[in-house]
Amino acid sequence: MTRTCPFVVGIACFAILGCVTVVQSQVTLEVTEGNSTCIKAELSASFSITYDTANGTRTVMVPLPGAAVVGVASSCGGDGRSPWLVALFGDGHALGLSFSSNDTLYSVANLTLQYNLSDVATFPDANSTDVVTVETTSVGMVARVNTTYRCISASSVIVGGATVTFSNVTMEAYMTGDDLSPDESVCTADQSFTTAPPPPPSTTTAAPAPVPTPPGTPNQGSYSVSNSNGTVCLLARMALQLNISYFSASQNKTIQEVVNLLPNQTTSSGSCDPTSATLVLTQGSATNLSFLFTLNTTSNRYHLTGLSVVAAWSDMTAPFNTSNSSLDYLRGSLGRSYMCISEQTLAVDQTFSLNTFQLQVQPFGITRGQFTQADECQLDQDNMLIPIVVGAALAGLVLIVLIAYLIGRKKSHAGYQTI
Ligand SMILES: *[C@@H]1O[C@H](CO)[C@@H](O)[C@H](O)[C@H]1NC(C)=O
Ligand SMILES: *[C@@H]1O[C@H](CO)[C@@H](O)[C@H](O)[C@H]1NC(C)=O
Ligand SMILES: *[C@@H]1O[C@H](CO)[C@@H](O)[C@H](O)[C@H]1NC(C)=O
Ligand SMILES: *[C@@H]1O[C@H](CO)[C@@H](O)[C@H](O)[C@H]1NC(C)=O
Ligand SMILES: *[C@@H]1O[C@H](CO)[C@@H](O)[C@H](O)[C@H]1NC(C)=O
Ligand SMILES: *[C@@H]1O[C@H](CO)[C@@H](O)[C@H](O)[C@H]1NC(C)=O
Ligand SMILES: *[C@@H]1O[C@H](CO)[C@@H](O)[C@H](O)[C@H]1NC(C)=O
Ligand SMILES: *[C@@H]1O[C@H](CO)[C@@H](O)[C@H](O)[C@H]1NC(C)=O
Ligand SMILES: *[C@@H]1O[C@H](CO)[C@@H](O)[C@H](O)[C@H]1NC(C)=O
Ligand SMILES: *[C@@H]1O[C@H](CO)[C@@H](O)[C@H](O)[C@H]1NC(C)=O
Ligand SMILES: *[C@@H]1O[C@H](CO)[C@@H](O)[C@H](O)[C@H]1NC(C)=O
Ligand SMILES: *[C@@H]1O[C@H](CO)[C@@H](O)[C@H](O)[C@H]1NC(C)=O
Repeated sequence: MTRTCPFVVGIACFAILGCVTVVQSQVTLEVTEGNSTCIKAELSASFSITYDTANGTRTVMVPLPGAAVVGVASSCGGDGRSPWLVALFGDGHALGLSFSSNDTLYSVANLTLQYNLSDVATFPDANSTDVVTVETTSVGMVARVNTTYRCISASSVIVGGATVTFSNVTMEAYMTGDDLSPDESVCTADQSFTTAPPPPPSTTTAAPAPVPTPPGTPNQGSYSVSNSNGTVCLLARMALQLNISYFSASQNKTIQEVVNLLPNQTTSSGSCDPTSATLVLTQGSATNLSFLFTLNTTSNRYHLTGLSVVAAWSDMTAPFNTSNSSLDYLRGSLGRSYMCISEQTLAVDQTFSLNTFQLQVQPFGITRGQFTQADECQLDQDNMLIPIVVGAALAGLVLIVLIAYLIGRKKSHAGYQTI
C-alpha cells in the first residue's frame, strides 16, 4: 500500500516556493593574497530568514546584492586555517564560505550566515536588535581539485532558521592560476537538466550494465543530538532508504538507485534551538543527510520542513546534492514524539526521495533523554484497523455459527418430542 498524500503536499509547497521570485544580481567575489587569487566565485544568492516579532514570526526574502564586497576576514588559509570567503552586504550582514580539501576533492566545509536584526528596513518589527550568526557544515558543494565548481540550477542550504538559495554558481578554491580552471565539476542538478551528459571515464570495453538489485528493508538506527551542556534535545530511531537518481559513470546514463543507510556506519550530529532543530546523519565520507524540524509556537506543533542530501558515491560523475526546505512531513505535537512504523516516502524533489520505516522522532520537548508518548501516523492507524476489522468479523461469524447451532439444537429437540 502506498500513500501519495506526502507527495502532493511536497509538490504543492514546491509550487508555492516556485512563485516567490526575488530579483537576484550576479555577484563576483575574489579572495587574493599577494598578487595571486586563491578563491573566485561568481554567483547569485538569496536568503529566506525567519525572525521573531512581537506577535509571532515573520519570514523575509533577502537577495545577496550586487554591491556585496569581500570582507577582510577572508583568507587564503594556511597556518592551520581554512580558506575563507566572506561577503559583506547591507547593514552588517555577511555570508561566509569556508573550504577544505584533500588530494582529489575540495568542498565548502561550512557556511556561515550573519544577519543584523537592527536593520529595520530588512527586518521590520523584529523584537530583537541582535546580530544573529548561524552556521552549517552540510552545504553540498564539492568539486575535483583544479576544476571549477559549476551549478546553474538553484540549490538550497538550510542554516538555522534560514535558507540560502544559490544559483548560477561558478566557483573555485585552491586556485593555481588567476582565472577559473576551464575544467568543470558540474553539480548533479545541472546534469539532469542538460541534454549532453559529461563524458564518462574512458572505458573501452562495454561492460554489461549491472542491474541494480533492490536492497532489503533497512536496519533501524538510533540517533540523538545534545545541547552544548550535554542534555539530549533530539531523539530519532528509524530505518532509512535513499532513492537517488543520478548519472552513472559505468552505465553512461541516469539511473535510479535505492540504497539503505547503514546505522552501524552512521554518526549523528546537529543542533537544537527553541523553534528549530537539526539532525545530521553522516555515513562515512560518502553520504550526508540533514533534517530540519521547526516548531510552530502558535499551534505548538512541529514538522519536518527541510531535508538535504549530499552523496559522493563511486559510480557518480560528480557528487550529488539536493535539498528542499518547504516540506511538511512528520507532523507531531510539542511534548510528544512522532511515530510511524509503516513505510513512508518523503519526496524531496524529482531526483531524491527518502523512504522511512519503523520511525520515531522527537525534535522538541525531550525530558530525561527519553521519548515521550507518541502521535501515531495515519498509515499505522489504518494498518491497525485491518486486524480489528478482521477480528470483529471473525467474532461475528463465531457468534452466528453459535446461534445457528443453538437454534438447530432446540429445533431438533422439539422435533423428537412430537414423535
Ligand atoms: C606582485 O606585484 C608586484 C608589483 O606589481 C611585483 O613587484 C611582485 O614581484 C609581484 N609578486 C609576485 C609574487 O608575483
Ligand atoms: C502585530 O501587532 C500590531 C499591534 O498590535 C499590529 O499593528 C500588527 O499588524 C501585527 N502584526 C501582525 C503581523 O499581525
Ligand atoms: C567554519 O569556518 C570558519 C572559517 O574557517 C571557522 O572559523 C569556523 O570555526 C568553522 N566552523 C566549524 C563548525 O567548523
Ligand atoms: C546593525 O544595524 C544597525 C542599524 O542599521 C547599525 O547601526 C549597526 O551598526 C549594525 N551592526 C553591525 C554589526 O553592522
Ligand atoms: C577525499 O574526500 C572524499 C570525500 O570526502 C573521499 O571520497 C576521497 O577518498 C578522499 N580522497 C583522499 C585521497 O583522501
Ligand atoms: C521575541 O519574541 C519571541 C516570540 O515571539 C520570544 O520568544 C522572544 O523572547 C522575544 N525576544 C525579545 C528580545 O523580546
Ligand atoms: C593541481 O594543479 C597543481 C598545479 O598545477 C598541481 O601541482 C597538482 O598536482 C594538481 N592536482 C591535481 C589533483 O590535479
Ligand atoms: C541545558 O541547556 C538547555 C538550553 O540550552 C536548558 O533548557 C537546560 O535546562 C540545560 N540543562 C542543564 C542541566 O543545565
Ligand atoms: C524510487 O523513485 C522512483 C522515482 O520517483 C520510483 O519510481 C521508485 O518506485 C522508487 N523506488 C523505491 C524503492 O522507493
Ligand atoms: C555515452 O552515451 C552517449 C550518448 O548516449 C554516447 O554518445 C557515448 O558514446 C557513450 N559513451 C560510452 C563510453 O559509451
Ligand atoms: C554493519 O551491519 C551490517 C548488517 O547488519 C553487517 O553486515 C556489517 O558487518 C556491519 N558492519 C560493521 C562495521 O559493523
Ligand atoms: C502556525 O500555526 C497556526 C495555527 O495553526 C497557523 O495559523 C500559522 O500559519 C502557523 N505558522 C507557520 C509559520 O506555519
